[in-house]
Amino acid sequence: TRPLKVALLGCGVVGSEVARIMTTHADDLAARIGAPLELAGVAVRRPSKVREGIDPALITTDATALVKRGDIDVVVEVIGGIEPARTLITTAFEHGASVVSANKALLAKDGTTLYDAAARHGRDLYFEAAVAGAIPLIRPLRESLAGDTVNRVLGIVNGTTNFILDRMDTAGSGYSEALDEATALGYAEADPTADVEGFDAAAKAAILAGIAFHTRVRLDDVHREGITEVTSADLASAQRMGCTVKLLAICERAADGKSVTARVHPAMIPLSHPLASVREAYNAVFVEAEAAGQLMFYGPGAGGAPTASAVLGDLVAVCRNKLNGATGPGESAYTRLPVSSMGEVVTRY
Ligand code: HSE
Repeated sequence: TRPLKVALLGCGVVGSEVARIMTTHADDLAARIGAPLELAGVAVRRPSKVREGIDPALITTDATALVKRGDIDVVVEVIGGIEPARTLITTAFEHGASVVSANKALLAKDGTTLYDAAARHGRDLYFEAAVAGAIPLIRPLRESLAGDTVNRVLGIVNGTTNFILDRMDTAGSGYSEALDEATALGYAEADPTADVEGFDAAAKAAILAGIAFHTRVRLDDVHREGITEVTSADLASAQRMGCTVKLLAICERAADGKSVTARVHPAMIPLSHPLASVREAYNAVFVEAEAAGQLMFYGPGAGGAPTASAVLGDLVAVCRNKLNGATGPGESAYTRLPVSSMGEVVTRY
């Protein structure tokens, strides 16, 4: 069988792990897909950086030329941000490739452009790694629960802020010390403002709400409040009340079923609640569906290897689809529920 050619856009914390696992587990992946994978090119910003285990001949700074080659089966986009990621992804679709992306900011801001381009060209767009790292959440919502009615998705979807709050709460660390540690461990975004101001969690809430409720929810629709105002004193007083503080993302269908809301803000959680025991950069998400009842998804929410696990799962799925001449689920905006404004949500301690 001819190898399936994979172009990797970005070789940072996640991309380097994707390349490593593609190499170390090449035989297993080939067996599961039914064809070997070939890393056909790796687009990077700094070509001089040493990248262990990657053939230097594959490294390029010209991502556009790589996606335009015409022989690429799957483009894996792990560069993040809006541009050039959006243009590279749409160009990849035009030139015959399906796309696996971890880009929550882009999907939340302009997912429609990506979905439309994928559909127009008959390609796949998979993005399990965009939300909650290794935890399977997109596929369960898009596929396993496609026959049910989801009413609520609620939980911790940002590893960096959970790590910071956990360190402040249990180790007595200061805010900036904990943030530095989260950055060193590869959890934080390139600009950690996205984490601590709640933009990253809000992007994930927009993606989850759109898929869960079969509608379109954009980043701007999500009420957002980060953790920059949470102090060690807040955590201490929460503790005295038998609680801790967590940054929550809450997506809900209105009781009348006619609109949806999505919001991100810190919340007091009683220590007896399962969310209170989510430590370090772990994430946990509850999904409440009419027939299924309450489901809990829990696991590593950030970091190179966990996020690479989600990327590789998508890569296998997209390659299997390709060999079967099929495509997976596209945009699920069937009902187009209006997103109602949250008004002002004030969180006080
Ligand atoms: N910065 C993100 C987080 C990475 O901390 O959750 C995973 O999306």
